[in-house]
Amino acid sequence: MSLIHWDDNLSIGVKSVDEQHKRLVEIINKLNDALVQGQANDVLGEVLSDVADYTVMHFAYEESLFEKYNYPDKDKHIQSHKDLIASVQNLQEKLQQDDFMVGVETMTFLKEWLTGHILKVDKAFSAHMIEHGVE
Ligand SMILES: [Fe+2]
Ligand SMILES: [Fe+2]
Repeated sequence: MSLIHWDDNLSIGVKSVDEQHKRLVEIINKLNDALVQGQANDVLGEVLSDVADYTVMHFAYEESLFEKYNYPDKDKHIQSHKDLIASVQNLQEKLQQDDFMVGVETMTFLKEWLTGHILKVDKAFSAHMIEHGVE
């Protein structure tokens, strides 16, 4: 069972970034499956470490585009990435403390990332990248 289906509404129009966002959707669906099946915290730990790895790689990629194509609004966007990284670290700490609500909080966090960050902050930078021919 999948919670989110990728469709064009989620696309920001930059193919390389979209591919990475699809990975985030996969992670969200994997977490949803684990929660629905009532799986133990070790599965959640795996998903969270996927999120942490994805976060570092993906933000570094986007930020390299800001530098390369001189994105004027980069400071705000980078700050938003920093906040998301802090949230992932916070969730990992909670998991280590056996906080039983961490699964639900992780789900809420990822959905917020999808709707709040990708659909607003990432979409805002894509126009600049498309202008510069980034795919
Ligand atoms: Fe992104
Ligand atoms: Fe971003």
